[in-house]
Amino acid sequence: MRVLITGTPGTGKSTIARFLSKSLGFECLSITDFVKERKLGSGYSQKLKTWEVEEGRLKKELESYIRNKPNIIIEGHLSHIVSPRISGLCIVLRTGNPELFRRLKQRKYPKAKIEENIQAEIFNVCHDEAKAKGHRVLAIDATTFSNFEKSLLKDFIYKLSLQ
Ligand SMILES: Nc1ncnc2c1ncn2[C@@H]1O[C@H](COP(=O)(O)OP(=O)(O)OP(=O)(O)O)[C@@H](O)[C@H]1O
Ligand SMILES: [Mg+2]
Repeated sequence: MRVLITGTPGTGKSTIARFLSKSLGFECLSITDFVKERKLGSGYSQKLKTWEVEEGRLKKELESYIRNKPNIIIEGHLSHIVSPRISGLCIVLRTGNPELFRRLKQRKYPKAKIEENIQAEIFNVCHDEAKAKGHRVLAIDATTFSNFEKSLLKDFIYKLSLQ
């Protein structure tokens, strides 16, 4: 099954994707790495200290890359741009605001970038976009994520992948 993991920066996508990839034996594709490797960044925002990406091109390249990969985890805050026709599940990770703020501050992000991300989380941006695109969405509050919860998630995805 092709599993998308989306969510505001800092919500733990890479952490959970690595766990699922290791425990399920699925390839893990980081969109950040994909954008770097394929030079898909279209411009650098000094204010937000972040690369802007041309989403149409990214979507095309991602969908072409995963076409022949029936089992893969794709993680990144843009992963939900992949068509629901070729993905089985879109997981949206959520993190409570005080914890998200702490994590983003720890990364030494500029104030504007922290504010933008906290607002995106408050307004459920990734979740609503994923729903609007027609994904089968599983929203998880991963502010704390115990081994028990991780293991439930792994079993759930494993069972879905057998259908
Ligand atoms: N459930 C959790 N409990 C505590 N800390 C966590 C949890 N999940 C992730 N973290 C920590 O939060 C930070 C952000 O996690 P991670 O890098 O996985 O987020 P991300 O969503 O991939 O961010 P980005 O979108 O910027 O790539 C890391 O320091 C990670 O160790
Ligand atoms: Mg990440």
